[in-house]
Amino acid sequence: MSDPVCVADYERLAESKLEPGVFGYYAGGAGDELALSGNVEAWCRLRLRPRVLVDVSAVSTETTVLGTLVSMPLLVAPTAIQRLAHPDGEPGMARAAAAAGTIMCLSTLATATAEEVAAAAPGAPRWFQLYVFRDRGVTRSFVDQAVAHDYGAIVLTVDAPRLGRRERDLRTGFRVPEEIVVPSMAALGGWEGATPLELLGAIDPSLTWADLEELRSLSSLPLVLKGIQTGEDAAIACEHGVDAIVVSNHGGRQLDAVASTAELLPEIVDAVAGRIEVYVDGGIRRGSDVVKALALGARAVLAGRAPLWGLACNGEAGARSVLELLQAEIELALALCGCTSPEAVTREHVAVPLS
Ligand SMILES: Cc1cc2nc3c(=O)[nH]c(=O)nc-3n(C[C@H](O)[C@H](O)[C@H](O)COP(=O)(O)O)c2cc1C
Repeated sequence: MSDPVCVADYERLAESKLEPGVFGYYAGGAGDELALSGNVEAWCRLRLRPRVLVDVSAVSTETTVLGTLVSMPLLVAPTAIQRLAHPDGEPGMARAAAAAGTIMCLSTLATATAEEVAAAAPGAPRWFQLYVFRDRGVTRSFVDQAVAHDYGAIVLTVDAPRLGRRERDLRTGFRVPEEIVVPSMAALGGWEGATPLELLGAIDPSLTWADLEELRSLSSLPLVLKGIQTGEDAAIACEHGVDAIVVSNHGGRQLDAVASTAELLPEIVDAVAGRIEVYVDGGIRRGSDVVKALALGARAVLAGRAPLWGLACNGEAGARSVLELLQAEIELALALCGCTSPEAVTREHVAVPLS
């Protein structure tokens, strides 16, 4: 294969490099994978409406998220067990994100500690994704680690009280190889060689809105809720003083019978009515997808699989290449839309198809 030039090329190359069980764990979704494919297809169905005769001799992709300057409106989504993709793992991903000038969100289910990841990219902004474990003492220790190592936000994932039915993993019999250590699980002991279902079994399914106050009290870090899929919940999140939300269906890995995130975004942006920042993830494969998300009211997007494919292909350098490729695509799409910055993108820059 020639050198990869787009995210789809990286995915094909990653598939040829990874063991089938690992590739299936990364690529797969729940059930019939309708939400997984729906996410990608929904961005494709939207059409940009470019404006012409705008001076685009200088275009910047820079923006801010929760007040932090980033090189582009695209952050690295939290994805578990990155050392399955490449020995560089999460520290490599952190260096790649830092080099690309954006934020990496570290998963609770990482194969490196919050401290190791911070040390890999000192000074770079980073966020910590939190799963609330049944053992609240362990949960508190995750937040303490995030605070101690200068993570800039807690991203609480709220769409996974139970694990979605990931049929690819069932078919391949995927288990985390014994030699891959997940430090957060190691704290609980006896989780080596677990299936994804066994890993997620540590999560507390009884979590409700009433628990948010206690979670907030654990640190002064901004709290972001990831996995909001209705205007109703977006409005409740605002009432609970949450700092931002991520419109997400977990990349189609949880409930399969849901709308794509591109379809959901307008409803949620309307419900939030400018009170907090709204991010979106799921199916982002092109810079033009990012511009479409901005046009529908998102402040930024998160990309999960795209940087993972880069990591799988060539470790830290591969993840960095994918992030730089996406930034170049965003810059070009902005210029060709007649926008000199992410802030210049408006609702009029996208058309929603009739069917
Ligand atoms: C392999 C894999 C592992 C993931 N692990 C986590 C996780 O640990 N925590 C979390 O909040 N989301 C997790 N996600 C969901 C991502 O954060 C994100 O919502 C999703 O990947 C976005 O869709 P995309 O992959 O199409 O960009 C994971 C996704 C994938 C593909």
